[in-house]
Amino acid sequence: MAKDFRYFLAQLTEVVPEDTVRVTREVDPCLEAAALIHNLEAKGRYPLVLFDNVKNMHGKRSSFPLCMNMAGSRQRMAVAIGLPPDQWRMELTLKMQQLLTQNRNIGTATVARGEAPVKEVRKVRGDVDLFEFPIPKYYEHDGGYYITGMPVITRIPSNGHYNISINRFHVKDPATIMYGVTPGTHSRLVYNEYQRLNRPCPVVIVSGHHLATYMATQWAGPYGEDEYADITALLQEPLRLVPSETWGEDFLVPADAEIIIEAEALPGEWGEEGPFVEHFGYYKGFKGVWPDGPYGYPMPRNYPVLHVKAITHRRDAWFVPHAAWGNSCVNLLTGKAAALYERVRLVAPLVKAIYCPVSGGGSYWTFVSLKHRQKGDARAAILTIMAMERGHNKYVVAVDDDVDVFDEQEVWWAVASRTTAEDFIIIPALPGGGCDPEALGASHLEEVSTRLGIDATRPFKQPFSLHATVSEELKKKMDPATYIERVSRRSS
Ligand SMILES: Cc1cc2nc3c(=O)[nH]c(=O)nc-3n(C[C@H](O)[C@H](O)[C@H](O)COP(=O)(O)O)c2cc1C
Repeated sequence: MAKDFRYFLAQLTEVVPEDTVRVTREVDPCLEAAALIHNLEAKGRYPLVLFDNVKNMHGKRSSFPLCMNMAGSRQRMAVAIGLPPDQWRMELTLKMQQLLTQNRNIGTATVARGEAPVKEVRKVRGDVDLFEFPIPKYYEHDGGYYITGMPVITRIPSNGHYNISINRFHVKDPATIMYGVTPGTHSRLVYNEYQRLNRPCPVVIVSGHHLATYMATQWAGPYGEDEYADITALLQEPLRLVPSETWGEDFLVPADAEIIIEAEALPGEWGEEGPFVEHFGYYKGFKGVWPDGPYGYPMPRNYPVLHVKAITHRRDAWFVPHAAWGNSCVNLLTGKAAALYERVRLVAPLVKAIYCPVSGGGSYWTFVSLKHRQKGDARAAILTIMAMERGHNKYVVAVDDDVDVFDEQEVWWAVASRTTAEDFIIIPALPGGGCDPEALGASHLEEVSTRLGIDATRPFKQPFSLHATVSEELKKKMDPATYIERVSRRSS
């Protein structure tokens, strides 16, 4: 069986059965589904949620069930790439980095239409109807219904390679969506190439595939690489592809997806999109002032219009998006931490771990731990991280390798105890504000942000105050489970 969405669900049920929950009561994807995920997160719970009974955009019961929060836990992501669930910290990021750099030659396999589950139902031209799907509206102030958190594929006209990403799509009518393609991203460079050629730009949205396919979208390699190799690297098997309905052999799409949406952007056709919550939980841009408060009114953006040309799907297909904010979004960004690790290794070879915590929207705080090979390695690591990814990595903290970057309290303890004001490095005007509400430019490409690096490592080869520790042997021996039990038994 190919590694697809159903394979992953089965894998998960076997390894961590308690990680999947089912909702059989009727739920409206308009605000209700996201509110349930939000409530679970507030209680520190991040299960994959299968909604059996959801409404479609016609207001009727949808024949497509909805799965949300697939990437809600790093434990699930570990399982997706063949690790035990408890290896979700740096083991996960490291394994992604290793697979995405060393496992790129697996290749794809093209299958005939009859062998592709995603071709069981084919709808073209007048028959396409996005409103049949349970497309969520996530938050109250969102401009409408959004398809988001799904792999998105484009094809680079100059070299024929495929680019993968995640983008948001504002649904305007049953066959028209807006393409949320941020300036500066590779997807936008692909779109620009078609614009220059005055040709329609094909865009394919993949709903429902193995979680590894979703995770692959956030790896940041050089522009122009064939990114189907990113997916095969994480799947660790060939990705099965099939000719699309619209472009045939010229655009191959994942054969084992639940749903494929094929769309085209016509040259020069743009329209209003948004507002939509960004991955920091804000609506960016102001259009006047919010009527009852000091907030800026969320501003719609101007994005390319996409015309849906064909939809193919399995007979009992799942609709599988991810919210653009919250744990599942932040976890998906792990591919970026893996890419950071790959770059930092070049300047600070003894780098140990990198983590972008949820509190920083998954990319605005970046913590890096390392051992010094020579004086200045921590600063080199900080500058390398700051320069990656436009607008992200706004604050970068470097700590020694005895500090656990996955424990925010430990990181702030190191900042408090191992820095002086001289250890704070400010670099103004680096490219891009991205989703940062503090960075507002006339246009995305004019946005810059000031970055702060904190070198919270101990001074190189200089004596430093001794830190109290408890030996591993003693930690093991003095297990509270053993001792607390004895104390209470004796006292009773
Ligand atoms: C849940 C989620 C939603 C995202 N939404 C968008 C989006 O709407 N537009 C966008 O340009 N990037 C979005 N991103 C970030 C891009 O997917 C990411 O930067 C990707 O690496 C860009 O790939 P590219 O450079 O090949 O285009 C999103 C990421 C996640 C995890």
